[in-house]
Amino acid sequence: MASIQYPSASVDADREAPRGPVVDFMVEELETLIEDAETWVKVKARLEHVVRLYNSGKPLFPRVLLEDLNRQIEAGQESVRIDDLDDVTTSYSLLVPASCSDIASTYCIGYASIQLMTYIHPSFTTMIVPDPSPVSISYTHYPNVPESTLEEVRGAFGQIRSHWERSETCQKLQGQLFSMESSTQIRKIVAFGLGTLAKVQKGRLSTSSYVQHAAIKTMATVLSPDGGEEIQCYAQDPWYDAMDVAFLTSIGITVVNDPKGFLEIDESTLVFSVCPNVPVKQIVADVQWPGAMIWNTVCEGEETKQWRKRLSSGEEFWLGPLITDPDSPRVCDMVRHYNKMPLYDPEDYFGDLTIYVK
Ligand SMILES: C[S@@+](CC[C@H](N)C(=O)[O-])C[C@H]1O[C@@H](n2cnc3c(N)ncnc32)[C@H](O)[C@@H]1O
Repeated sequence: MASIQYPSASVDADREAPRGPVVDFMVEELETLIEDAETWVKVKARLEHVVRLYNSGKPLFPRVLLEDLNRQIEAGQESVRIDDLDDVTTSYSLLVPASCSDIASTYCIGYASIQLMTYIHPSFTTMIVPDPSPVSISYTHYPNVPESTLEEVRGAFGQIRSHWERSETCQKLQGQLFSMESSTQIRKIVAFGLGTLAKVQKGRLSTSSYVQHAAIKTMATVLSPDGGEEIQCYAQDPWYDAMDVAFLTSIGITVVNDPKGFLEIDESTLVFSVCPNVPVKQIVADVQWPGAMIWNTVCEGEETKQWRKRLSSGEEFWLGPLITDPDSPRVCDMVRHYNKMPLYDPEDYFGDLTIYVK
């Protein structure tokens, strides 16, 4: 099944020379999906417009846009103004509108990957977003699940952390971080999407979330210069609640609200993210190239737009191109500037991660 259709970049050759990595669209494949000629013309024009902007180097997630959005949120405004890809400003309420108050309890920032901006479902070819906005506000509901006490979280973390520190994955990660050649001194770790610790899901705590937070502390210890200043650790996940914040603060991890995590990244930051529900890789590629990343392996080349076969816990499954944190030509271009080493993870705490260092 063709999930992402890539209209040809050549249509723009007479207008603007592509800068940097470009999206390669395949119009022919798309045309076979849309029988109605009028619809086809509209969809094609819309896709070509988005692709032309992307290929001209226009960021989907400009740092200034996120800084401005953060300022508006911090000012306590009831609504925020966000520019779309055509620099047209839309106002969004941060209060849940009455029309969706039965299904949503809070706002969240929506980030649309280049795949989402150009995605056409073969069965719903007319359902393409009319006005592309890579950053927007939507409304969501976090399930009301039972919660552990601070003491329970502390106890579970202590147990799982000591188990983690004895694991082969942890030993290997320390060895890899220690031995990888890097031109950058890491001073900060910013983590995305590691999940909640306090909430009990399906009757149990999420071991992978505990391990991933323990791994932040492991990385900080390994990367800390001898006798030098401590590595600052930050974590962003909108699902954290007051209990998570209290616990993480107590172990030296500062919780930041979306989009502050992205704005914390600088050249001496290590970005750590594991299967986030937002396109962290594409946002980071636009906002700031960090000193290092440990995140889901980037599949360079043709694989970025195809279904891929993956292995998890010994079982094969298909990963579609419309995933929450997909690669893109810009992400592929960025990681080419880094040394890379797949993270050896026999215990399968993280899935398929790779360490990238400058
Ligand atoms: C599939 S879960 C992965 C959780 C954990 N890393 C794991 O491997 O079990 C995706 C996580 O991304 C988080 N997330 C969603 N939006 C985010 C955002 N804007 N910034 C950071 N994390 C986000 C979700 O709350 C959720 O905890």
